[in-house]
Amino acid sequence: MIEKIEKLKIKAENDLKSCVSDKDFEDWRVNYLGRKSELSDILKNIKNLDQEQKKVVGSLGNKTRIELEGKLKDTKNRISGTIGTSKSSEDYSLPSRHISMGKLHPVTLTLREIRKAFVSLGFQIAEGPEIELDKYNFDMLNIPEDHPARDMWDTMWIDEKINKNGEKMLLRTHTSPVQARIMENQDPPIRVIVPGKCYRYEATDSTHEWHFYQVEGLAVDKNLTFSDLKGTLYEFAKKMFGSETKIRFRCDYFPFVEPGVDMSIYWEGKWLEILGAGMVHPKVFEKAGYKDKNLSGFAFGMGPERIAMIKHNIDDIRLFYSNDLRFLEQF
Ligand code: PHE
Repeated sequence: MIEKIEKLKIKAENDLKSCVSDKDFEDWRVNYLGRKSELSDILKNIKNLDQEQKKVVGSLGNKTRIELEGKLKDTKNRISGTIGTSKSSEDYSLPSRHISMGKLHPVTLTLREIRKAFVSLGFQIAEGPEIELDKYNFDMLNIPEDHPARDMWDTMWIDEKINKNGEKMLLRTHTSPVQARIMENQDPPIRVIVPGKCYRYEATDSTHEWHFYQVEGLAVDKNLTFSDLKGTLYEFAKKMFGSETKIRFRCDYFPFVEPGVDMSIYWEGKWLEILGAGMVHPKVFEKAGYKDKNLSGFAFGMGPERIAMIKHNIDDIRLFYSNDLRFLEQF
């Protein structure tokens, strides 16, 4: 008798594994726990057994029944959690199960806003390589080998420093090399922005990351002036931060522009610097092979993380890349 109950239990458990629908579960219940089931039969006939047997068979039989009922409930719950059987298959008014949706990263959202603003001002969008040649990252931008300005961009060099033409390679430290690449390949007029990832060999803190985005801008044409630079960036600032936004330019130095400036916006009572800019340096035109004396242009470079930090009141740049959902889900 005991052996029979044990075998029955194993069979019931095995059969339960193939149950998926409400009907499967009901059939299984009738078959193994119902009034006419083998187990009920055994328990009903207990009275015919002797005293000793009654005790053993009775307790094992009841224990098995309780265990099987528990297993049925657990399996049903588990299955209904995955395929929505049991109650929910009939009750269409129940709320659906939660599906977690992905979201765009705050930096992606900011990049899209920046793109949109410049596209509406007639700029095109270009990209360049993240693994860059020393030549484009520095030389073509009027930053020669021994120039102190190279200190401004502590560089991550590619281990094999030499590509097949014998040139040094690095992870670009800014998006400005794409200026040179575009001028080499395209005739003016040029109006382009270049969003992309940059890398610098430096310690991280709340305002510095070793990898970050930049958006470069370049306009080249006949008779472009500093007023065009100011007007373009003013329009951009208003589109990005609101039509009342005030901007301020101050002198700054970048080897590839002359004059060079930085631009700040007035935000919640403070001037906050958001980009570097200037008129394209004649040496840069010369190196890019632009001979036309009447050409002039302006360039600018900004950090979208910094812009997102200002707009959303974020106090630590490292939050963008630490993959904490509590942060990311707010955008
Ligand atoms: N490339 C500069 C930087 O990384 C920014 C810049 C771009 C400045 C274009 C002037 C013109 O700081």
